[in-house]
Amino acid sequence: MTQDELKKAAAHAALADVVEGSIVGVGTGSTVNHFIDALATIRDRIIGAVSSSEASTKRLRAHGIEVFDLNGIESVPVYVDGADEIDGGFAMIKGGGGALTREKIVAAVAERFVCICDASKRVEVLGRFPLPVEVIPMASSHVARELRRLGGEPKLREGFVTDNGNLILDVHGLSITDPVATEMHINQIVGVVTNGLFAARGADVLLLAASGGVQRLSAR
Ligand code: 5RP
Repeated sequence: MTQDELKKAAAHAALADVVEGSIVGVGTGSTVNHFIDALATIRDRIIGAVSSSEASTKRLRAHGIEVFDLNGIESVPVYVDGADEIDGGFAMIKGGGGALTREKIVAAVAERFVCICDASKRVEVLGRFPLPVEVIPMASSHVARELRRLGGEPKLREGFVTDNGNLILDVHGLSITDPVATEMHINQIVGVVTNGLFAARGADVLLLAASGGVQRLSAR
C-alpha cells in the first residue's frame, strides 16, 4: 500500500469515533483531507464541524458540511487530526501544514483527540521532524536566537504565512526526550504564539495504519 492509501485507511477508521448528532473537530493536512471526504458520507448524521484551518473549512463547506465558529460551541466530543510524529506516550509534533495554533485550540476544547496516521509517523523520540514554532513577525529574530540556545537550528519557512498572519520557524536538530517540558519552555519565549508539540494535551486514541490494517491504540 502507498503512504496515501495508509492515510486514507486511518482516516476512514476514524468514522467509528464520530459521535452522531455532534459537532466534529476537524484538523488539517492530507490525512485529514481523507477524513473530511469520509465524513461527507455521513454528513446527515452530524450537526457540522469546527475547523482548524481555512483549507479544511473550504473542503468541509465544499462537501456541504456546516462549519461553526468555535466561540459559539459548548462541546466538541471528538477532534480528529493527523501528526508529523507521534511517540509511545502519544505526544506529537504537528504543524507541518502550518495550522498548529488553531489545531491546538480546537484540541483543547475537544473531549477526545483521535490521531490518524500512517505507520511512518510513529517514533521512539520526537524531533527528527523539524519542530514548527508559530511566531509574531516582529519577534522572529529574537525567537530564533532563543531557540538556538536550546540547541535547535531554526529555519524560517520561506514564503509562508499562517492563517493568523504569523510566521513559522521550523526547528531542526532537537531530540525531545521530555516533550511536556519542551512544549512549556518554548511557549514561554516572548513572541511565540505556540509550538507544534502536542504533549501537555496529547492524543487519546491513535489509529495507526500499516499494510496489515489499522491498529486502534489507546493512551495509557
Ligand atoms: C498540519 C498538521 C498535520 O496534521 C500534519 O502535518 C500531518 O500532515 P499529513 O496528514 O499531511 O501527513 O499538523 O498543521
